[in-house]
Amino acid sequence: AASCLVLGIESSCDETAAAVVAGDRRILSNVVLSQLDEHRPYGGVVPEIAARAHVSHLDGLIRQALAEAGVGLSDLAAIAATAGPGLIGGVIVGLTTAKALALGSGKPLIGVNHLEGHALTPRLVSEVGFPYLLLLVSGGHCQLLAVEGVGRYRRLGTTIDDAVGEAFDKTAKLLGLGYPGGPAVEKAAEAGDPARFALPRPMIGRPGCDFSFSGLKTAVRETLAGLSQPVSAQDKADLAASFQAVVGAVMVDRTRRALALMPAGTPLVVAGGVAANRHLRARLEVLAGESGSPFVAPPLRLCTDNAAMIAWAGVEHFRAGHTDALDIKPRARWPL
Ligand code: KG4
Ligand code: ZN
Repeated sequence: AASCLVLGIESSCDETAAAVVAGDRRILSNVVLSQLDEHRPYGGVVPEIAARAHVSHLDGLIRQALAEAGVGLSDLAAIAATAGPGLIGGVIVGLTTAKALALGSGKPLIGVNHLEGHALTPRLVSEVGFPYLLLLVSGGHCQLLAVEGVGRYRRLGTTIDDAVGEAFDKTAKLLGLGYPGGPAVEKAAEAGDPARFALPRPMIGRPGCDFSFSGLKTAVRETLAGLSQPVSAQDKADLAASFQAVVGAVMVDRTRRALALMPAGTPLVVAGGVAANRHLRARLEVLAGESGSPFVAPPLRLCTDNAAMIAWAGVEHFRAGHTDALDIKPRARWPL
């Protein structure tokens, strides 16, 4: 198992990435090329630009990942690539490249669900066993999942409108903090007073484990419009801090309810790009402590999109005996 080496490829959004991971959880290489600069002028990811950038960079990144790991294609057990969900042009680039490498090298192909990559990352960095409760918070998703095994995910709650990362990104845009929004809001919030604005706290106290963020976004817009213009840096910081505090309170409330549905002491795991947020991590860690649950949060560079998580999901599938045929289809939508 230690020698089970898998190459992972990720290209479903605006990161082009390749990594080599071993079955004993060593990350031999993990290269990520962010396309942020290419998309920044548009304030968001432009699918066509993303797909073209993946085409330009992916071959070189794969070469680099293999070289840094000191391995060749013949040393690999399998080749894994994100097969969805995501921007379809990018997914096609990564999956087609993986198919070509698999065909040329005779190695098995594994098509990975991007969300599953996030969901299994905690097992790449810790000994956490099944089941665990996963709070998956990213630009496209906001879900609470009971992870019962590889390929066995039970959804306990999801957002009924916007994803939480989207809420961060839109709030950043409203505040003129630039793109990408999550880190910008977190940074602005550091200098802000989280109690300054009383924003609505969507879903808190409601039954179930679902999320909703569109009302919060509207409240940020209206609050902003009610301030004297141009809005001062302090006002922006206070609004960012108030927004982040509400998101934290909502996360804690929903996650507490989901933990109550799991056996006592079930580990709480947080993953996805928004899991990079230190305020949210701290509050969830407190919640886990109160619930007697171990808390697992991958390091920041493994929370945002990367290929090590795809390679690791490949390791888990390979060990379980799952590989895919070369005609596996790329999917824009693919619920876990
Ligand atoms: O998982 P991810 O890299 O891409 C997918 O959506 O799959 O997540 C990106 C999202 C973006 O919405 C970004 O603004 C958010 O994660 N994000 C953050 C932080 N870092 C990234 N949100 C809040 N605080 C952060 N520090
Ligand atoms: Zn992601």
